[in-house]
Amino acid sequence: MNADRPVGVFDSGLGGLTVLAELTRALPGEDFLYLGDTARLPYGSKSPRIVERYAREVADYLIQKDIKMLVIACNTATAHAEQTLAQELKIPVVGVIQPGVDALLARTRNRRVGVLGTRSTIKSGAYANRIQAQDRELQVYSKECPLFVPLVEEGWTDRRVTRLVIQEYLSELKREDVDTVVLGCTHYPLLKETIQSEFPELRLVDSSEETAKAVRAKLESEALLADRPRGAVRIYLTDMTHQ
Ligand code: DGL
Repeated sequence: MNADRPVGVFDSGLGGLTVLAELTRALPGEDFLYLGDTARLPYGSKSPRIVERYAREVADYLIQKDIKMLVIACNTATAHAEQTLAQELKIPVVGVIQPGVDALLARTRNRRVGVLGTRSTIKSGAYANRIQAQDRELQVYSKECPLFVPLVEEGWTDRRVTRLVIQEYLSELKREDVDTVVLGCTHYPLLKETIQSEFPELRLVDSSEETAKAVRAKLESEALLADRPRGAVRIYLTDMTHQ
C-alpha cells in the first residue's frame, strides 16, 4: 500500500467542501481529490437505488485515480451506499454518519437527541438506527429539512426567511426537550451560527469535524498516513453552472 496516494472525497455537490476543509485542517500532509457531483445534485430528494448507483459511479471514477481511501462526504450517499461501497471496494471507506452519531451520544446530557437531514437521509433511518443500536433508551427525534439546502445554495444563511424556516423545523424538537442535535447534511454547518442564535441552548454537532478525526484515526491504524509537510487539493465537478 503506497501511503503517498491521495484520499478521495465525494459529495453530491459543493456542500462536502465543509468536510474537505476539516480534513485538510486535520491532515495537512495529505493529498485530497474531491469530486462534487454537481450535475446530479441534489441527492437528498432521490430514491435509495438512484443514490446508490450515483455513489458507485463516483467511487469507480475516484478508484481509477488511485485513491488510498474513500471519504463519503455526503450524508445521503452515506445513508444509501456506505455499506455497499465498504463491501465492494478494496480500500477503507469512511462515511459521515457514524462519526456524527458518536459525537451526538457523547454530548447529550438528557438523552433526548435530534437529527436534521435531507428527506432521503431521514427516511432511510440511517441515523436513528445507528443511534438506537448503540443506546436503545435514547429518545431520537428526526426532522427532514428540505428547504435548508436551497437556502444555503442561494447564500441565504442569515436572512429573515432562513430564520423563519429554522423556527418552523426546530421548534418541534425544542418542544420535545431535545438538548443535542446532529447537523446531518453537508450544507447545514453553514447554518450553524444562525441556528445557534435562534436556539442558543441547543448543542449542535457538526459531523464534518468528527469525520476528519475518524479519517485520521483510520489512516493511522492502516499505516496509510502520508509523510510530507503539505499536500495538494484537487477539485473535480461533474458540471459547472452559469453564474
Ligand atoms: N450532500 C447532501 C447531504 O449531505 C445534501 C445536498 C443534496 O441533497 O444532494 O445529504
